[in-house]
Amino acid sequence: MKDKKVDAIKKIAKLISDNPDSKVIFLVGAGISTSCGIPDFRSPGTGLYDNLAKLNLPFAEAVFDIEYFEQNPKPFYTLAKELYPGNYKPSKFHQLMKVFQDKGRLHRVFTQNIDTLERAAGIHSDLLVEAHGSFALNHCISCKKEYPQNVFKDKMLAGEEFANCEECEGLIKPQIVFFGENLPRKFFLTWDKDVTELDDKSIVVVAGTSLAVYPFASLPEEVPKATTRALINLEKVGDFKTNPRKCDIFYSGSADGAATELAKELGWLSELDSLSKLLETDEESTENVASGKEGEAAKVDSIVKDLEKLELKEDT
Ligand code: OAD
Ligand code: ZN
Repeated sequence: MKDKKVDAIKKIAKLISDNPDSKVIFLVGAGISTSCGIPDFRSPGTGLYDNLAKLNLPFAEAVFDIEYFEQNPKPFYTLAKELYPGNYKPSKFHQLMKVFQDKGRLHRVFTQNIDTLERAAGIHSDLLVEAHGSFALNHCISCKKEYPQNVFKDKMLAGEEFANCEECEGLIKPQIVFFGENLPRKFFLTWDKDVTELDDKSIVVVAGTSLAVYPFASLPEEVPKATTRALINLEKVGDFKTNPRKCDIFYSGSADGAATELAKELGWLSELDSLSKLLETDEESTENVASGKEGEAAKVDSIVKDLEKLELKEDT
């Protein structure tokens, strides 16, 4: 490990060890799930939006745009089929957050991810805020009738082109926050409360996010100046780049690498390893697992191929 990385891990670990009564807040994004084989959105080349740009969508983010979905839901349904939770298992970073919980040191995880891998890792729902929603709840966008997760999943897996409401034929949509929709109330209420509890002994760890999508991207800015902010990411992003603070810590590298090193430094490596073993033997969660960069690239490829079949040009 390069010196700078070692330094960053040591600083984070020291703050955590020196303040046994303080708890950690994690603010995370797609970069903590890329090692599970799920592509992120904005990494050049491998990110989903870069690849979708080749298609005839009016703009790459249209797959998650509510107005576009109302006119043409096919791209989203195609993507949903590929990214459906249950096909992946949590990364080392997810597992480390679970170890924080087991040690009584987890204050909260705010995630932008819709892959539900925090739940799969065992993070309690009261310690978890899925800021951009998830596949867990589904509803008809016309009559608002609610559907359990398995109804949507079964329709997708049965190869149905559209997930239609049984009452009104409207479109069934998972409660994922699309562009043009509001974030869940729990996001605002929980953050407003948590942020007032931060002090000079606290640490906020931001990991695997480009901090490009608001309001989530503004959370690091709202952390009190006395509180340490640590960024674990492939590159410097958001407020860490534009408005760096003296006590910021930056680990430039993979989230999983940081997780292992941090666990080592904190003396929690055996707990992290036991958790990994437990998840590996959980047959359900290891089904169809694609792992690492290769899995991620193959996944993007198959998503794009499936979307190409839609002949998007005619539809738009
Ligand atoms: P992005 O794809 O925008 O950013 C991912 C960040 O993680 C980038 O800065 C990468 O460099 C970094 N990264 C990638 N792999 C990594 C790794 N192994 N270790 C560490 N860092 C890594 O993803 P988000 O910031 O999560 O919205 O995107 C935010 C929102 O934009 C998403 O929630 C999604 C999208 O539109 C919805 O799905 C509603
Ligand atoms: Zn309906």
